Amino acid sequence: MKRNKEEIHRRIVELRRAIEDHNRRYYVLNKPVISDFEFDILLNDLIALEKQYPEFSSSDSPSNRVGSDLSDEDRSFVKVKHKYPMYSLSNTYDLQELRAFIKKILDLFPSTPVGFVSELKFDGTAISLTYKGGKLIRALTRGDGITGEDVLRNVKNITSIPGHIDSRSLPDEFEVRGEIYMPYSVFEQLNLEREESGENLFANPRNAAAGSLKLLDSGKANSRGLECVVYQLVSDQRISDSHFETLQILKNAGFPVSEYNKICSSDDEVVDFLNYWDNARKNLPFATDGAVIKVDTLDLQERLGFTAKSPKWATAYKFRAEQAVTKLLSVDFQVGRTGAITPVANLEPVFLSGTTIKRASLHNADQIALLGICYNDYVVLEKGGEIIPKIVDVDVKRRDSGEAVAIKFPERCPDCGTRLEREDSEARHFCPNSSGCPTQIKARFVHFCSRKAMNILAGDAYIDQFFNSGLIKELPDLYKIDLNALLELDGWKERSALRFLQSLSDSKKSPFAKVLFALGIRYVGETTAKNLARHFGSIEKLASASLEELSNVPEVGSILAKSISEYFASENNMRMIEEFRNIGLNFADVADNSLNVSNKLEGFVIVVSGNFSKSREFIKELISTNGGKCGSSVSKNTTYLLAGEKSGPAKLKEAEKLGIPVIDENELYKLIE
Ligand code: IVH
Repeated sequence: MKRNKEEIHRRIVELRRAIEDHNRRYYVLNKPVISDFEFDILLNDLIALEKQYPEFSSSDSPSNRVGSDLSDEDRSFVKVKHKYPMYSLSNTYDLQELRAFIKKILDLFPSTPVGFVSELKFDGTAISLTYKGGKLIRALTRGDGITGEDVLRNVKNITSIPGHIDSRSLPDEFEVRGEIYMPYSVFEQLNLEREESGENLFANPRNAAAGSLKLLDSGKANSRGLECVVYQLVSDQRISDSHFETLQILKNAGFPVSEYNKICSSDDEVVDFLNYWDNARKNLPFATDGAVIKVDTLDLQERLGFTAKSPKWATAYKFRAEQAVTKLLSVDFQVGRTGAITPVANLEPVFLSGTTIKRASLHNADQIALLGICYNDYVVLEKGGEIIPKIVDVDVKRRDSGEAVAIKFPERCPDCGTRLEREDSEARHFCPNSSGCPTQIKARFVHFCSRKAMNILAGDAYIDQFFNSGLIKELPDLYKIDLNALLELDGWKERSALRFLQSLSDSKKSPFAKVLFALGIRYVGETTAKNLARHFGSIEKLASASLEELSNVPEVGSILAKSISEYFASENNMRMIEEFRNIGLNFADVADNSLNVSNKLEGFVIVVSGNFSKSREFIKELISTNGGKCGSSVSKNTTYLLAGEKSGPAKLKEAEKLGIPVIDENELYKLIE
């Protein structure tokens, strides 16, 4: 039977409410009332209905908010204290230093034979898996080493991690630590899909693994082909005296253990291992950024102990970035949204660190001059943590000196022909024609519509079409587009037009921080926009802030402060903001609005402790205007302990003892949003 639209809409709203509620119970209260499996059924039902009836889709839907466009702060996983802290490793790039590390340990134990285990250092994200009675019960990220986030829901989907272990050789309760990583093939495919759907690309497999692991939508995490390798057992009981043997036992019990671990009995053997893998890693199907060298005997590990940050019985030897040589074919001078000109080299395709490279950034005129680079040169590429690899050198010996033509930076904008400018403090050239340069204007629209900004369904192609047909000149023009105008354009059908208009109307609900990011103020990225929105609370306060006040915001330096202040000094920009305000965009943080009366905190007793971005009085008023009560001390009647900076250790301890969830300021705002 075909359901009517009203019924479907009601079901969608019902599902959204139910999912929100279960999310809160699971992530905030830590008291889920349904299984993960049941939760996934609800979420999948919602996704299917929204897909079938796009007219009801909404950027507010939990199906959207679980997507990868969320930044870390927006995601909520339950925070859990590690039973044993998760340390990091000291590291070196230098073989001499590594030999010294080994010698120091050998000298400490002159009469004991010391073995070392050399392992590959998988480049992913650390995980600590807790098993009890053979069952995987927790999967904590490293977090700050003391407290991690429980990502069990997603980890359960990683096929190489056993959900159950049936082994008598293991203690009843233990933790195994390892690395979750994404093989190159999965990474490439994922980025290809993201490019097609207009999403931001992951810079490297490590970011992709960490991002995927923290997706709230477990279905998506599942489809991302994550892998795991286990490199340590942490338990009150030992299962062997040797680390190497411990890993063997874990392997036999069904854990994924690296096949590349090697016992080494001298520093020469360790160095052989490192030299071999520095080259051979190019053929591995996953990324490694080095090797880890560990003392094998667990007794000796215990005697060596830890510094504040890392074990003294292990260190990492980091490989230098891989390089490749290829031919420079041509250079594009790209105009960005803020008018900055970036030279990008087109290259003869070459394989480097698991991916094929066709383009590389040349950064700016200084970099070009520094490299002394000519057309047709053979260039040395290096891949750091960024998406676009760097050209670090030119192989001058292979240059045909008779024909060498140096790359010249253009004097005029390649798009609008305006003479380029360069401020003394800037390494980059800029096209100053911000209101007339078509590339800049279009790029501002694309940025405004992007998922992390207003999330309007319009990419490069739509913006090109709107711009070329004269529909849009300034950002607010977007909201003047109507159905008739769209249907007059090539290729638009009613269905796609309605979808676009729905996303346009949904975008008006975007919070202040996203609107601020969408405006495209130079240097104001997503995080800065969030910090500014939270700090000032409204566009009026932000626009009238002095340079000094701006510099008080986390991560805002003098260049950024100057850019913000210049933006708001422009009459044009202020007029545009006024126009946006009339359209209905949000220019104030929800938390700044003390009239935001609701009963969302009804029945909640919240104890407030520590310092926050707003005054404590403000926070308390916010709680009471939303129906909650403020308690003075933590007791069994407390719903949450709201802990800010420097919150009282006694209160935290009491909350931990009584199992009262501790939330931060962001989580409070989320509760009343
Ligand atoms: S042992 C006490 N072994 O490298 C620390 N770590 O800072 C014990 N990693 O994020 C770590 N492969 O997750 C160890 N074979 C390996 C590793 C490995 C990758 C990661 C680890 C951590 C980082 C070290």
